[in-house]
Amino acid sequence: MNNSHLPVGVFDSGMGGLTVLKAINACLPAEDVTYLGDTARLPYGTKGRATIVRYTVQAAGRLVEMGVKMLVIACNTATSAALPDLRKRYAPLPVLGVVEPGAAAAARASRNGRIVVIATEATIASGVYQHAIARVRPDARVLGRACTLFVPLAEEGWLEGSVVEETAKRYLKDIFTPDVAAPRPDTLLLGCTHFPPLLPVLQRVVGRDVHIVDSAATTAQCAREELAGRGMLREHHVGVCRFLTTDNRARFARTGCLFLGHSLKKSDVDLVDL
Ligand code: DGL
Repeated sequence: MNNSHLPVGVFDSGMGGLTVLKAINACLPAEDVTYLGDTARLPYGTKGRATIVRYTVQAAGRLVEMGVKMLVIACNTATSAALPDLRKRYAPLPVLGVVEPGAAAAARASRNGRIVVIATEATIASGVYQHAIARVRPDARVLGRACTLFVPLAEEGWLEGSVVEETAKRYLKDIFTPDVAAPRPDTLLLGCTHFPPLLPVLQRVVGRDVHIVDSAATTAQCAREELAGRGMLREHHVGVCRFLTTDNRARFARTGCLFLGHSLKKSDVDLVDL
């Protein structure tokens, strides 16, 4: 049976995956998308692996039950903990994560091979980015740094100002300060889907000469290739997005605008219990 009429399911622990949804809408405008943000249990990034896997499997399971033709795990933390499990569980459903696409984008962007990955505590501890970048660019030197506070700042909509700037300096200044003994990193990979809205501040803090990359556009491109390869691309249709959250529809709509770049009303968002 051809399932091309079904929506693409996109999952994140909260709002961050909306940055990936935006890229999917741009790259696959004919696709319907069902987005689920598990805001009731955010953050995932400070939790232990077993909890992250359990939450992710529950959320992904709900999207699969609803009927999707592909799952995009638009959360680095969930991808790093649960991607192989989800692929096994739902085969032959295609399940895409954001880590491989992000690693590919960083490997391509860097000239000197010195790459800094910023992500949640769980993603950095898992070492997935270090491994994924080494596979595509074995000469790269990758430094990971957990930037836990960027998640609540982004969810709060604090994307500019002195608090964000000071936080970014505290996390990153030492790494990007020129050092005569070692070449300065030339690439900063945003290994958390909550971080792209903070890009202007991050660029100021690390310096204009540093490439800042994220996984949104490359993930959307991978989704396109995967659907095309399976003959499941939708055509002659205007894609519609459905938004699901596990808590507080009004807050989801309010903060979601900042990530999506367009307005969202409470009535556009449905509540689900996992
Ligand atoms: N958006 C999630 C990620 O990409 C992190 C947010 C959280 O800690 O739940 O890792």
